[in-house]
Amino acid sequence: MKDRADAILQRAQAHYLDSLLPPRDALLERVEEYAHENGQPIADPEVAQLMRVLLRAKRPRRLIEVGTNIGYSVIVMGRELGREGTLETIEIDQRTLSVAKGFVAEAGLECRVVFHHGAALDVIPRLEGTFDFAFIDCVKTEYGQYLDGLLPKLEKGAVIVCDNLLWGGKVADGVRDGSTDALRAFNQRIATDGRLVTTILPVGDGTGIAIVQ
Ligand SMILES: C[S@@+](CC[C@H](N)C(=O)[O-])C[C@H]1O[C@@H](n2cnc3c(N)ncnc32)[C@H](O)[C@@H]1O
Repeated sequence: MKDRADAILQRAQAHYLDSLLPPRDALLERVEEYAHENGQPIADPEVAQLMRVLLRAKRPRRLIEVGTNIGYSVIVMGRELGREGTLETIEIDQRTLSVAKGFVAEAGLECRVVFHHGAALDVIPRLEGTFDFAFIDCVKTEYGQYLDGLLPKLEKGAVIVCDNLLWGGKVADGVRDGSTDALRAFNQRIATDGRLVTTILPVGDGTGIAIVQ
């Protein structure tokens, strides 16, 4: 999560770009309010809009999300999947997952949603079939392991989106701590892994987009 509006982008640019975001409907507004009031780390609205654009272009059939939280991104992404689509999502916290299920039920999505309760590193090896879109938004020190577990399950041409890659500015500022060091190593890896074509954008808290070759 961004801790300052200008941590990644200059304040004036961030405010200007915010003003161009589409308005949220009543449900997403309510989910954002709930997140704000309860300190829940949902994706930034500009990341949500980037996801809409990527999903509209890719039109995936099977999407895997690592880190459900209260279901904000499930609703955003699920609205872009048609009746044929399946969205699977993983959350370790039972209470948070219950809140997510409530909001997602209200959204009345056409696609199938499969909620997995458990630690992502336990659930990922048990996922069945392949995926053509992945959203990684969970424990920062585990991003490399999520990628290791997901890559064999991702089809050629699959899109991987990763949130928080600039981590409130700390990654580029050279801060040394577990999450920041792990994200720095992860960024280096996805930027150079021959199986991926990657860009990391200063959108939200730093958003990585990689295509599996
Ligand atoms: C950043 S939030 C996800 C936000 C969500 N993708 C969105 O944009 O609405 C990360 C979530 O991962 C969950 N989490 C933390 N550790 C986990 C683990 N080991 N396995 C699965 N989920 C975990 C947290 O409880 C939290 O709800």
